[in-house]
Amino acid sequence: MNKLLVSLLLTLGITGVAQAAGDAAAGQAKVAVCAGCHGADGNSAAPNFPKLAGQGERYLLKQLQDIKAGNRQVLEMTGILTNVSEQDMADMAAYFSSQSMSIGATDPALLAAGQALYRGGKLNEGMPACSGCHSPNGAGNAPAGFPRLGGQHAQYVAKQLTDFREGNRTNDGDTMTMRAIAAKLSNKDIAAISSYIQGLH
Ligand code: HEC
Ligand code: HEC
Repeated sequence: MNKLLVSLLLTLGITGVAQAAGDAAAGQAKVAVCAGCHGADGNSAAPNFPKLAGQGERYLLKQLQDIKAGNRQVLEMTGILTNVSEQDMADMAAYFSSQSMSIGATDPALLAAGQALYRGGKLNEGMPACSGCHSPNGAGNAPAGFPRLGGQHAQYVAKQLTDFREGNRTNDGDTMTMRAIAAKLSNKDIAAISSYIQGLH
């Protein structure tokens, strides 16, 4: 592991968010309003709506807090969380986290390029490998709050990487981890990595 990655990991580790204990069974009864977009079990059908199934609980709760507070702009969810309590969000996060993310397919033409970037990063430009935080099989690191990527819709992943690069998504903390990484990615890199991630498991 290179020095940059180690220092990023250490910084992220000590800036954790407060976490209420979520109850998955209680959460299942609260997600009807989410199901139309994200799917009843968190496996969304539309490629621009993220899959939530099997996503890390800590990551899910942080996103809900960020979206509710306006630190992450999701226009489609405007108003949905206004009257949702911290306990409700923890329960919904626990429910979706307890499901399994479905796996999609990688375009064979993009596999080699996507895999090389995901596993190797761009060491000559100081960009660490994605696998160092999101794990080689894409499962992420739930306790650390590093999201699961494996199986996620390529279209959604590509939009997030573009948003981080353009500064339209800024909730990756003071370390700006994902913004710094996405700054090193071309549109071609993003297409290859996103397709690789969609089939990764
Ligand atoms: C009208 C459609 C819609 C509804 C309803 C909706 N969402 Fe979303 N949600 C989205 C979209 C679109 C995004 C991603 C936006 C983007 O591209 O950044 C998102 C993002 C998220 C994320 C971040 C996922 C990630 O991987 O970072 C979470 C968590 C989430 N929604 C939870 C919920 C919950 C819980 C509910 C119900 C209370 C809900 N959403 C209702 C459309 C919706
Ligand atoms: C040093 C650790 C680290 C490395 C290396 C890293 N990430 Fe991340 N990534 C994170 C963290 C932490 C988040 C969550 C930020 C937040 O809380 O919103 C994240 C979020 C993401 C998201 C958003 C997920 C979602 O569901 O919305 C995507 C996509 C992503 N990373 C892709 C990548 C790719 C592709 C690479 C390699 C080019 C990479 N990451 C390298 C730590 C890392």
